[in-house]
Amino acid sequence: MSTEKRASFGGKLSAILVAAGSAIGLGSIWRFPYLAGENGGAAFLLVYLLCVLIIAIPVMLCEFAIGRKTHKNAVGGFRELSKPWQILGFNGILCALFISGYYYVIAGWSLDYLVNSINGSLYNSGIPFAEQYATFQASYWPIVYTIAFILLTHFIIARGVEKGIEKASNIMMPILFIILIFMAIRVAFMPGAAEGYRFFLTPDFKEAFSSDTLFQAAGQAFFSLSVGMGCMITYASYFNEKTNLIGTSLSVSLLTLFVATLAGLVIFPAVFSAGLQPTEGPSLIFITLPEIFKGMPLAPVWSAIFFILIALAALTSTISFHEVLTAYLSEEHKISRKVATYITTGITIVLSLVTLLVGFNIEIFGRTFTSTFDIYDFGSANILLPLGGFFTCIFVGWFMKPDFFKNEINNYGKLPVKILPILFILVRYVAPVIILYIFVKGLGII
Ligand code: PHE
Repeated sequence: MSTEKRASFGGKLSAILVAAGSAIGLGSIWRFPYLAGENGGAAFLLVYLLCVLIIAIPVMLCEFAIGRKTHKNAVGGFRELSKPWQILGFNGILCALFISGYYYVIAGWSLDYLVNSINGSLYNSGIPFAEQYATFQASYWPIVYTIAFILLTHFIIARGVEKGIEKASNIMMPILFIILIFMAIRVAFMPGAAEGYRFFLTPDFKEAFSSDTLFQAAGQAFFSLSVGMGCMITYASYFNEKTNLIGTSLSVSLLTLFVATLAGLVIFPAVFSAGLQPTEGPSLIFITLPEIFKGMPLAPVWSAIFFILIALAALTSTISFHEVLTAYLSEEHKISRKVATYITTGITIVLSLVTLLVGFNIEIFGRTFTSTFDIYDFGSANILLPLGGFFTCIFVGWFMKPDFFKNEINNYGKLPVKILPILFILVRYVAPVIILYIFVKGLGII
């Protein structure tokens, strides 16, 4: 495909909203609160913040530089710069497959909760929410909703880059912010909320720098900012020569941090107010959130709005990793975008069905995995993304000439960027060393 014919995102705001759309999703609203709940609340928030600043932003800038320079997908982008390094692109493709294998399942849960809010059954039955969650998991509905979500994503991708991805993000992201802010205000008035704020906002420094908290927080930084797998390479390939890469990466990171923090400010006061435990794990928001609405007038309406929000946030992310696979297939294997979209959707359905239907019990790295859900989650956030991020920094910082990074970041001298030397030090030394340390410690290798 020639560079000229390639789609590109409209304005400055579009580039930010589209990249933020990929970043902000279940990672911030579902994954972040449950990991923070399991890893000391405020301690986790603090380390996560640091990981975003020191590791994830430099990796994102490297990906932006590669994507915008080459105007190619994850594999093609690396290959154009250096053939052997295309293996990093394949690491990204594998990771996109991993994430596709379980992300839609959770997105499907949010659709189910949306439907059950609208038809009233979530609040009318009087059954405790933890029990309703368990009953739902044991039914065939998760399969139905997972597939529905995959098809929804397919529909948007099939409309193409500008009309599909760009338009969807521009409409959905602002709505998401408004609803979350509203929820955070509402929750502040719940009895017992103060305990939740304490848990989420007063860090225990000993816990913060334990190797497990670091490991989980770094993984979350990669996952929540969609970096380490070429997703931002693919998206930046649609940026134009005027896009300010630093400005875009800072805006995307700040918006993601903002949403994750807001999600924490919504979830934890509610958890404590309802007398629940923050260590509930992946089911956390599905058990806690309904508690917030239960006592409110028009509970089903607020609940429906909130689950729409989660579904929308998930959708702007699912389209991004669907796009990574679709762009790779269509550009590298010279098939039409339409066929590539169908193939990606087909593979995604198969992977998700395996996650939903197959159970086992294996132990790797001292952790127990009971389905491909756990393997995909851990394998993507804690293994493939950090690996991809580490080598992306090595590639841009050491393999490419320094001018490559500098020229892309300052738009060939058109944007004066004073912090360029600092950024380059982050890319060359700080980010790779810290990623390696956290990774090796977290896996118990040293
Ligand atoms: N960042 C997305 C989220 O937080 C997930 C994602 C990861 C999307 C990697 C694309 C690539 O929900």
